[in-house]
Amino acid sequence: MDVISNIIAQAKADMQHILLPEGTDERTLKAADRLIADKVARITLFGNKDGIEALCRKLGLTNIMGKAGIIDPKDNPKKEEYAELLYQLRKAKGMTREQAVKLVEDPLYLGPVMIKNGDADGEIAGACNPTSNVLRPAFQIVKTAPGISVVSGVYLMILKDGTYGENGVLVFADCAVIPDPTAQELAQIAITTAHTTRALAGFEPRIAMLSFSTKGSAKHERIDKVVEATRIAKETDPTLMLDGEMQLDAAIVPEVGASKAPGSPVAGKANVLIFPSLETGNIGYKLVQRLAGAVAVGPILQGLAAPINDLSRGCSSDDIYKTVAVAAVQSIQLKASRR
Ligand code: ACO
Repeated sequence: MDVISNIIAQAKADMQHILLPEGTDERTLKAADRLIADKVARITLFGNKDGIEALCRKLGLTNIMGKAGIIDPKDNPKKEEYAELLYQLRKAKGMTREQAVKLVEDPLYLGPVMIKNGDADGEIAGACNPTSNVLRPAFQIVKTAPGISVVSGVYLMILKDGTYGENGVLVFADCAVIPDPTAQELAQIAITTAHTTRALAGFEPRIAMLSFSTKGSAKHERIDKVVEATRIAKETDPTLMLDGEMQLDAAIVPEVGASKAPGSPVAGKANVLIFPSLETGNIGYKLVQRLAGAVAVGPILQGLAAPINDLSRGCSSDDIYKTVAVAAVQSIQLKASRR
């Protein structure tokens, strides 16, 4: 079974409750309709009930009616309870009760508050909102999972042929969150990505810490950062198959890996690529997606205490469908890790 089919099958086996705050977006409604029909997740949409139902009728979406939850953030019976929770969580950061009351009318705040209150398992947004507006409330309210200091974003890159990575599948990080990670943060990104790889891609990670140098072939402070991150990651988890610093070709091409990094357990056969900065990660995944025609699944946020995943504003209904399935599997895994 391919990676995506496997994720969808896992999601169906233990249906999670996922929030879709952009309930008047047509792509979101189409995805919700299919997710409900296929029994991938329980769905709650945010927005005006009459407006959503009218849109569904116009689009011929029959599964949402009566089967999806619909919450109007401005007319929500639990508004006071949620405002109080938000106020308690953020008052030390200067939030007033009045601000909390106003903020729980904002779908991007309501989602994380509902998750924090135990009323939902995860959220997908970003089809109509910039990344930072989706991430900030998630960071402030849901916060990181125990033992994790930073949230980062991975993509599952599914290539057209099986030459590179794990039969054509590679995991890229961080492509979405931390503009200029420290060595400590880069090490954390690598370790968290190893967990995500096992949980979602279903294979054992071989992690390359990327740079523009391989094993000391060049000198620069940006290379030093990757060398230090490699040291910290290995020290933190000696069982990881991880190596660096190395260039992209040394990481994925067997002959180049053998010549530039002989004896490396990763060089030439990496299936996880850790990029040294957000510029490189974000540009890198888009290059592979656009020029090599790879399917890019993500960004999948990792490290949060509950799954909240961002979408690109250019996303399709199918992207939303897959991202919900991913969040559902993340939720199942997070719950299992807490038992
Ligand atoms: N992990 C965990 N928590 C974080 C992280 C992180 N990586 N970054 C910030 N936080 C927390 C902070 O600790 C803080 O929490 P607190 O208020 O409880 O103390 C809160 O989030 C806000 O922190 P700020 O430092 O004020 O962060 P800011 O709001 O300025 O920025 C943001 C956070 C929005 C995520 C920023 O890092 C960002 O914009 N990143 C780039 C996102 C982006 O544009 N990505 C590229 C596009 S994605 C794509 O192409 C698909």
